[in-house]
Amino acid sequence: MNLKTKIREIQDFPTKGISFKDITTLLKEKEAFVCVVDNIVEEFKTKNITKVLGIESRGFIFGGALAKELGAGFVPVRKKGKLPAETIAESYELEYGVDTIEMHKDALSSDDVVLIHDDLLATGGTANAVFNIVKKAGVKEVYFSFVCDLEFIQTPEKSNIYKLNPHILVK
Ligand code: PRP
Ligand code: MG
Repeated sequence: MNLKTKIREIQDFPTKGISFKDITTLLKEKEAFVCVVDNIVEEFKTKNITKVLGIESRGFIFGGALAKELGAGFVPVRKKGKLPAETIAESYELEYGVDTIEMHKDALSSDDVVLIHDDLLATGGTANAVFNIVKKAGVKEVYFSFVCDLEFIQTPEKSNIYKLNPHILVK
């Protein structure tokens, strides 16, 4: 299936000059939804993944399905102030300002094999921050999957992610 054609582009959203990749058009088609899940499961089914980390909020959508199919637990990485227990936090630069994401301190252990999942890799700032959180937690191994990569954006943070050999469905 050509998944790229399933993702709708909305011009000038959320601000002028941005071409927004809208995955809702992919999500609502059951064959496309299953295609994404099956593709990622096929890639990681032999890796003994113990935890899938979904990045709030769009990373939650496939994250839960992937955890179920891979026989792993699910860990939400959330925007600042949403998680109730003690967290590990990491801040990252946005075009204007900074953002912070958090994971519960007790979410991972040293023998975990982690799959970090998000819908989109743009600047790589979010994914890189999550990688830093996971490094602070200390796990056995880390993998990445993204539905979509905006290849025309290249940054040092994204180079870090590329070095980790992420699985990307749509480029
Ligand atoms: C979007 C997208 C990724 C992130 C990618 O999320 O879902 O998580 O941006 O951008 P980056 O590579 O430049 O960090 P957003 O923060 O808009 O929030 P949402 O998932 O809640 O819609
Ligand atoms: Mg997101």
